[in-house]
Amino acid sequence: MSKKTRDKDEVSRRDFLGIAAFGAAIVGSAGALAGSMRLVKADVYAEESKKFKIGTIENYPLGSVKKMDDKNVFIFSDENGLFAISAICTHLGCIVHQADFGFQCPCHGSQYSPDGNVIGGPAPRPLEWFDIQQEVDGTLFVDAAKTVPQGTKFLFA
Ligand code: FES
Repeated sequence: MSKKTRDKDEVSRRDFLGIAAFGAAIVGSAGALAGSMRLVKADVYAEESKKFKIGTIENYPLGSVKKMDDKNVFIFSDENGLFAISAICTHLGCIVHQADFGFQCPCHGSQYSPDGNVIGGPAPRPLEWFDIQQEVDGTLFVDAAKTVPQGTKFLFA
C-alpha cells in the first residue's frame, strides 16, 4: 500500500468519524428538543362529562327509587320532587346500598340516613347530592360534577 493511499484512507476515516459525530449531535439535539417540547406541552386529557340522562318525569312515579348502577347514583321521587344522591361512600369510595335506615356501606360499615347524613361508621361526610336539570324536550339529566345542598330537589312543574 502506498503512502498516498494510506493518507487517503486516514482522511476518509477522519471524515467518517466527523460525520458520525455530527450525526450523533443532530440526533441528540433532536431528542433534547423533543423532550423539552414535551415539557412545554402539558398532558391534558379531556375529562368525561359527568352529565347523564335519566329519562323523563314519567319514569319517576311518586315514591320511586331508581339506582343508576353505571353512574352510582340513586334517584328518588317524593311529593316535593326528584333528587339525586351519590352511592359512593365518602370514606373510601365503596358503593353503598339501600338499607332500612337509609344507606349502608359494605366495606367498613358506614351508615347513612335516608338523606345521606352519616349515622355510623368511619365516613367523614354525608353522601353528596347532585343537581338535576331538565332539557327543553323534557329529558332530565343529572350533573354529577355539580353538587347541591342536601334537600335540593328538582321541582315538578
Ligand atoms: S368505604 Fe364505606 S365505610 Fe369505608
